[in-house]
Amino acid sequence: GEPSVRHRCRRHRHHEHDVGQDRRDRGQGFDVAKTGDARIGFVGFPSVGKSTLLSNLAGVYSEVAAYEFTTLTTVPGVIRYKGAKIQLLDLPGIIEGAKDGKSRGRQVIAVARTCNLILIVLDVLKPLGHKKIIENELEGFGIRLNSKPPNIGFKKKDKGGINLTATCPQSELDTETVRSILAEYKIHNADVTLRSDVTADDLIDVVEGNRVYIPCIYVLNKIDQISLEELDIIYKVPHCVPISAHHRWNFDDLLEKIWDYLKLVRIYTKPKGQLPDYSSPVVLPYSRTTVEDFCMKIHKNLIKEFKYALVWGSSVKHNPQKVGKDHTLEDEDVIQIVKK
Ligand SMILES: *[C@@H]1O[C@H](CO)[C@@H](O)[C@H](O)[C@H]1NC(C)=O
Repeated sequence: GEPSVRHRCRRHRHHEHDVGQDRRDRGQGFDVAKTGDARIGFVGFPSVGKSTLLSNLAGVYSEVAAYEFTTLTTVPGVIRYKGAKIQLLDLPGIIEGAKDGKSRGRQVIAVARTCNLILIVLDVLKPLGHKKIIENELEGFGIRLNSKPPNIGFKKKDKGGINLTATCPQSELDTETVRSILAEYKIHNADVTLRSDVTADDLIDVVEGNRVYIPCIYVLNKIDQISLEELDIIYKVPHCVPISAHHRWNFDDLLEKIWDYLKLVRIYTKPKGQLPDYSSPVVLPYSRTTVEDFCMKIHKNLIKEFKYALVWGSSVKHNPQKVGKDHTLEDEDVIQIVKK
């Protein structure tokens, strides 16, 4: 009913303020340029074994020593996995009252929003309710875990009232509800198109517009202290990997899942007349894998000299195939750039 919608709107408005604050903080040189190909943020209550996990992961796979990332966060290491350099970042302060306007917490949240993957570290011996608390905390800062942006078209106008189009049946929203949500934001004229069965919260996310969508893995630590029967139950938690940080159990599974969730694409370069360099791929995010993206990752001037590229691999029909800068590459393609 309407009261709950109003309630939700207020809750989100409060959060919007917090997120706006993050943006300002970011402008003050806090958002250090990413090194490596991806950044993973670790979140967890104190004493769940987060630092043991970080140091053991980094200890095993790291090629770069620990360094101070900012005055607030430490990068325990940059690990190299399948040729990609992956930054591991401790995110302290998210749980310990970050939302209460403490600048430390807010700044950490700003960094959290730049992560390509979030690992929520939980102690299997503690109540599973801790998972919900952390999720709520991240949600409150506009971070959406394991979800996609809602499929909603939204365009403010000067007149004409609220024009709602739904391309499929809606279980929660009707014109009246949409109108009352938008009225909370003083929006009285807009085209709204609902392209899937969405919720009031989804609509609010689109209206406020500053959400980030980040994949998340739940790392359930200390499995050395539970029975096999309990382990079977834990395995049913979606997006989870049970581990023992202390004994380094199941790190292979964890890294494989991290790799899956990061969705990175490896491109091997082949200098003319030589074999491809399989040892150090150019690593791209799956959403940006055109030949132009590849060139930009190597050097921003390369695209100016670009004539065409020869590509071998699953993105092409013939090996090699001559392609232009708009061609989309796929994982483990081999490329040779031909300059003007
Ligand atoms: C209502 O919205 C739809 C979809 O955006 C648009 O095509 C249509 O022209 C709008 N109708 C009016 C009366 O504004």
